[in-house]
Amino acid sequence: MTPSDFPRSEIRISGAKKSYAGRMVVDVDELVLGRHPVEGLLGPNGAGKTTLMRMIMHSIPLDEGTITLHKPDRSSVVLSEMSTDEMVSHGVVKSTQVISDFEQLPILDSMLLAVASARDESPFRLWAERSVAASHADEIRHQLDYFGFRDPFAVAGSAGDKKLLDIVRCLLLKPAVLLLDEPTAGLPDDVTRKVMTAIKQIAAEGTSVVIVEHDLDVIWELCDEVTFMAEGRVLMKSDPATIRAHPAVVEKYLGAGHA
Ligand SMILES: Nc1ncnc2c1ncn2[C@@H]1O[C@H](COP(=O)(O)OP(=O)(O)O)[C@@H](O)[C@H]1O
Ligand SMILES: [Mg+2]
Repeated sequence: MTPSDFPRSEIRISGAKKSYAGRMVVDVDELVLGRHPVEGLLGPNGAGKTTLMRMIMHSIPLDEGTITLHKPDRSSVVLSEMSTDEMVSHGVVKSTQVISDFEQLPILDSMLLAVASARDESPFRLWAERSVAASHADEIRHQLDYFGFRDPFAVAGSAGDKKLLDIVRCLLLKPAVLLLDEPTAGLPDDVTRKVMTAIKQIAAEGTSVVIVEHDLDVIWELCDEVTFMAEGRVLMKSDPATIRAHPAVVEKYLGAGHA
């Protein structure tokens, strides 16, 4: 799929800076994320990937700069002036942002809540009116089966289950832009494959997915475009094959033998 297939929501980052104790950890001049179905953010530990994702979600305030969301209808909003909740209502969602409030909820309820918020429905209505819940049941049952959650009435217990539930909740939100920070870290291989398939699917349906991931096989297989960061800056942005073969990427990240 090429970016021109249909317009997607994209995030434009301009002059975004963040320092800790006088040390600049993110210094991104101009960067557009989301023009391609799945984009990767790659770079060595400490490159500023997580900080940049949090700056986009405004869970870390910017020292300088602006971040805007441009929608397919050509309207735009300034994300860097919004709360995270407002951002979610504009369809910008980050994994691990959504789950924390719902740790005590059974898996099924947590999924229902995600669907409710995606459709601007009251969760109470979902719980109270069987017909409303039933209309979402197919979608939820599909995800429960596909990802192998055995007991939808249990609270997600293991770290892996919590992580997976978080991703599934993000998928159910059908966001305009989905930011994923190491979505497959710590998941078993078979679950990783399923998460990758689900990411491809949601991207094909129109969500712009931006993914930070240390598992390079995931990056090379999933991403249509990769941004390479080091020391807080964007060094290059290109297709995966070009990034993979670039001497600076090999030197700073991949190491000899990978090119
Ligand atoms: N709250 C913080 N206080 C001080 N330094 C931080 C803080 N958060 C991140 N850093 C530093 O910012 C740099 C970028 O970190 P991070 O964004 O987590 O990198 P990455 O996700 O690419 O590994 C690192 O050097 C890290 O030590
Ligand atoms: Mg990180």
